[in-house]
Amino acid sequence: MKMRIDVVTIFPEFFGVLDVSLLGKAREAALVETHVHDLRDYAAFKADGSPDVHRTVDDAPFGGGAGMVMKADVWGKAIDDVLRPSGVLVIPSPAGVPFTQALAADLAEASQLVFACGRYEGIDARVAQHYADAGYRVIEASLGDYVLNGGEVAAFAMIEAITRLIPGFMGNAQSIVEESHSDGLLEYPSYTRPAQWRGLEVPDVLLSGHHARIAQWRRDQQLERTRERRPDLLPPDATVAD
Ligand code: ADE
Repeated sequence: MKMRIDVVTIFPEFFGVLDVSLLGKAREAALVETHVHDLRDYAAFKADGSPDVHRTVDDAPFGGGAGMVMKADVWGKAIDDVLRPSGVLVIPSPAGVPFTQALAADLAEASQLVFACGRYEGIDARVAQHYADAGYRVIEASLGDYVLNGGEVAAFAMIEAITRLIPGFMGNAQSIVEESHSDGLLEYPSYTRPAQWRGLEVPDVLLSGHHARIAQWRRDQQLERTRERRPDLLPPDATVAD
């Protein structure tokens, strides 16, 4: 089944690079189709039906505070137009659940993903609530614990992580199985020729041809790296020799 991805944004030109990324290959293979929509196309009329020559997409927050909030009525028109009955609404937000490899793999099975890219201080919270209440799967997801200017860069990263997991996308399925995060650990270090470079040698075991020892060494490296860099990922029973 072909996946359909819709992106709604006030910066549609940002997504022109979808064509030249890895995702271009998935599109050529007819595994995914992407459609980018300009949010301002849905802002030609105000909530009361009168024309809005400025195509306003944001307004001041109720309750006061810095920044602007994107308007529910404009987002509602856009999402009503693109979201299909079986579609999943993804809203990139620094306040969302962590976007993980597991979530990417889960979303790779969807028939349609709609990315709602908010700028400024976010989208009126009733938008997520409305579509969840209407029975849609709605996911507010964060790329990491830092703040971007808007959802575009996050949506792009998510789209790349998801589309490469669509069954049939990558030629070498094993490279997906072995990569960082697919087994909950960071990937082991890799080397290629030459065996010596600037005085640095490739670990002997990798030149030994001894498959069981190589597999054991890689596993140890995964655990050691994960312990050093991402101890939060380690299962409580993981042991690694010092
Ligand atoms: N929008 C702004 N910051 C973000 C983040 N860290 N993740 C997802 N969307 C965002």
